[in-house]
Amino acid sequence: MYNEIKTSFLAKIENVMLARTIGVGFLMGLDLQLNFINEVKTVISEAVTNAIVHGCLSNENKFVQMNLSYDAVNIYIEVIDNGIGIEDVEKAKEPLFSTKVEEERAGLGFTIMDVFTDRLDVESKVNEGTRVLMVKKYSE
Ligand SMILES: Nc1ncnc2c1ncn2[C@@H]1O[C@H](COP(=O)(O)OP(=O)(O)OP(=O)(O)O)[C@@H](O)[C@H]1O
Ligand SMILES: [Mg+2]
Repeated sequence: MYNEIKTSFLAKIENVMLARTIGVGFLMGLDLQLNFINEVKTVISEAVTNAIVHGCLSNENKFVQMNLSYDAVNIYIEVIDNGIGIEDVEKAKEPLFSTKVEEERAGLGFTIMDVFTDRLDVESKVNEGTRVLMVKKYSE
């Protein structure tokens, strides 16, 4: 059992909603509980918002990629931007750390992604971009 989609959309904040909807549509065939789907929507929102707001600095000419797949056990959510990158990934992942406190960001996005998934990998290079991979188990 395997399915996969690759999507690419402009770094516009309204596309966060699109990304969530794509996620829900992609997982439709899996017969998941509503609270599980809500967790997936939440982590997609957090990762895609970060890619747009922090990675691409809301530069609407840049593209964000979101690739989704599942096998018999796990769902895989990959969000990639070719933006500014993260200097210190470990620090960025700490709860309440944010470089945009003046914009009233809580600094909880990575914490939420971590809590609602079984694996969170963040790879980043300054001036090259960031790739976030989340793995969430849906079946035994
Ligand atoms: N794709 C990205 N590109 C560049 N920097 C990023 C990216 N994602 C996260 N960061 C950096 O990591 C920090 C922490 O991200 P996190 O999502 O945890 O908090 P936040 O986005 O600042 O606040 P919140 O998600 O609660 O609104 C960000 O403030 C930003 O500096
Ligand atoms: Mg965030």
